[in-house]
Amino acid sequence: MQLKIALLGGDGIGPEVLAQSVKCLKAVEETFNHEFIFTKAPVGAVAISNTGQPLPQETLNLCKASDAILFGAIGALEYDQNPEAKVRPEQGLLKLRKELGLFANIRPVKVFPSLVENFLLPKKIIAGTDFVIYRELTGGIYFGKKTLSEDGTAASDLCEYSESEIARITHMAFKAAKKRKKKLTLVDKANVLETSRLWRKVVTEIAESYPEVALECLFIDNAVVQLILNPSKFDVILTDNMFGDILSDQGSVIIGSVGLLPSASVGTENAMFEPFHGSYPQAKGKNIANPVASIFSTVLMLQHFGLYEEANAVASAVQKSFVKGVITPDILGSSKYGTDYVGDFIAENIVDSDENMNINDENIGLGRSTII
Ligand code: IPM
Ligand code: MG
Repeated sequence: MQLKIALLGGDGIGPEVLAQSVKCLKAVEETFNHEFIFTKAPVGAVAISNTGQPLPQETLNLCKASDAILFGAIGALEYDQNPEAKVRPEQGLLKLRKELGLFANIRPVKVFPSLVENFLLPKKIIAGTDFVIYRELTGGIYFGKKTLSEDGTAASDLCEYSESEIARITHMAFKAAKKRKKKLTLVDKANVLETSRLWRKVVTEIAESYPEVALECLFIDNAVVQLILNPSKFDVILTDNMFGDILSDQGSVIIGSVGLLPSASVGTENAMFEPFHGSYPQAKGKNIANPVASIFSTVLMLQHFGLYEEANAVASAVQKSFVKGVITPDILGSSKYGTDYVGDFIAENIVDSDENMNINDENIGLGRSTII
């Protein structure tokens, strides 16, 4: 298969972790005879410094003309510390999502048995965790009208949703639940918000077309408690843009490191794959960032194009790095392995599954959790 892949490294550790994904995809290219055409383009704070724009038009054009986009990370300290900045790196990512119509953000959260001892939360809580968040990505409070009064003392952000915006991601989430553990949890705040009541109405109606899937509705404040107490009870979580942003970071605490979690943002025309994590500017250039979230994002990309054997080969190589302890310090404080080394190790271990007899349940499971 030939694929045109846009590489948007962005800010902070973004380019470093993305470079490891490219190594892995080059290994996939060679092992499985594909052709991946990579083109780099600027986005975020880096793009603002060079062009004044967080998403230059050429970057957007490249993304539109590509089969897939691999995204690194976005954000920089100078902007985080200056809420008054009118042009912000994050606007680049939000514009990209909107312009490309990437309305569904899919964030799988799965605990790996080989790492379960490494993390803060008790094993009895996190063992068996395997859920996926379907976060609406191009609507809601993120994109509603924003106002700031002239004297700067009052502000507002409008949260709006239409039935069709809710319905399209709801169908995707139900279809995923049908292939998984057949449970869907809608997270909202329907006791207070009108938009949440619309979500509940639309989702409940659509649920009738998926009788094999059990629908549960939780308020966001209760959901954060249930998720931390009982993460393994969840299967597919469906929610709006803002609640999805918050819940997915909570997912990273459950799994142990935000450096392990990938995501796919898809629409009808385009698809973008990116780690959950931010730009982690403090780690930039130190060769300590975990490349696994970015590499797992390529697994989601390969699955998106139906390249399941290839996706399994990458997931197996990551699994091998876990088992052999070739992991970065965010997982094991005493680890001497850096971003580059872990990336090389994973890329070198990407082999055709016919030749790899050591595939175990865990990595097969990842390959099977087809997301789309
Ligand atoms: C995420 C990030 C973004 C978001 C930021 C960087 C705009 O937190 O993808 O979760 O809020 O969507
Ligand atoms: Mg976030």
